[in-house]
Amino acid sequence: MRVLERLAALYAIGGGPGANRPHGSPAEDEAFELAAGWMREAGLSVDVDPDGNLVGRSGVRADVWTGSHLDTVPQGGRFDGALGVVAGIEAVEGVGAGSVVVFRGEEVGCVGSRAFSARGGSLPSAFLELHVEQGPVLEQAGAPLGLVTGIVGYARGELVLEGRAGHAGTTPMTLRDDALVAAAGEILRVREAGSAIDGCVATVGKVEVEPGGVNVIPSRVRLSLDVRAPDSARLDALIETIGFEPTQRVEPVRLEGAARTALRDAIAERGLDVVELSSGAGHDAGILAAAGVDAAMLFVRSRNGGISHSPDELSSDEDVALATDVLEAALRRLVG
Ligand code: GLV
Ligand code: MN
Ligand code: MN
Repeated sequence: MRVLERLAALYAIGGGPGANRPHGSPAEDEAFELAAGWMREAGLSVDVDPDGNLVGRSGVRADVWTGSHLDTVPQGGRFDGALGVVAGIEAVEGVGAGSVVVFRGEEVGCVGSRAFSARGGSLPSAFLELHVEQGPVLEQAGAPLGLVTGIVGYARGELVLEGRAGHAGTTPMTLRDDALVAAAGEILRVREAGSAIDGCVATVGKVEVEPGGVNVIPSRVRLSLDVRAPDSARLDALIETIGFEPTQRVEPVRLEGAARTALRDAIAERGLDVVELSSGAGHDAGILAAAGVDAAMLFVRSRNGGISHSPDELSSDEDVALATDVLEAALRRLVG
């Protein structure tokens, strides 16, 4: 199947283990070039917008978009983002209408879709994004596909702990001001804050220790923060409990327009149950929905317990084929 071959070609870029195409890297550029070539092969006219996003337009109803992103987290999975792009090209080619978009830098805060929306350029009339679920809900429900009802909101920022550098051998334990020991307490506090508010999560994913010598007491530590909530009030509460100034904030959105109906009908007409679920991951569809676009998302079942942002991320060939088919059918409904 061509979608699987293309996923393999993207996965090979950047070297392993896993997918390594971080935003701003030559690997992200190489993936964009590959996708641009596939768009041209599909007969689409290809443009790069001022923010580096790639759009392949057919000659019919080019205002209806599908797509996703091609950047990855370090050592990411084969499907995250890439599936929505290769299936999107397939759908636009199959229907002979619509456009496919590849946004830059989704993993680092949806920088491409946010810049595009903020620029006030001409927004699509509808946007469909196919994505792996990245969680266990569909696997547990025994359902290959899911219809997304809403996308979590998130905020990112950092906590900085200051201490005093000193000699690891000669400074008595009682006289230390160790920034990393203080940071350890903060990491536990972040976990407690995420656990204390229903439906929320909070993660420290990066720790930078200065000066970073094995025999030096740490003088400064930066902790990255990624906190998420199903609604704005809970996001506010989480930020306040942890006590940080977000450098990025994306509001939660509901997905409930005609695009979602098109996906629902496309799922139902195949005799499948319409399983609804919300997304704990951020997506470009959420950014477009917040900008007023009629956006909708189709999830495909993740195997291996739903693991994602990992080389173990897996969806079956059959589910990928089914999802691509449903995406195409929904696009056909929207452009008709
Ligand atoms: C994007 O994958 C995210 O962090 O939700
Ligand atoms: Mn993604
Ligand atoms: Mn991701």
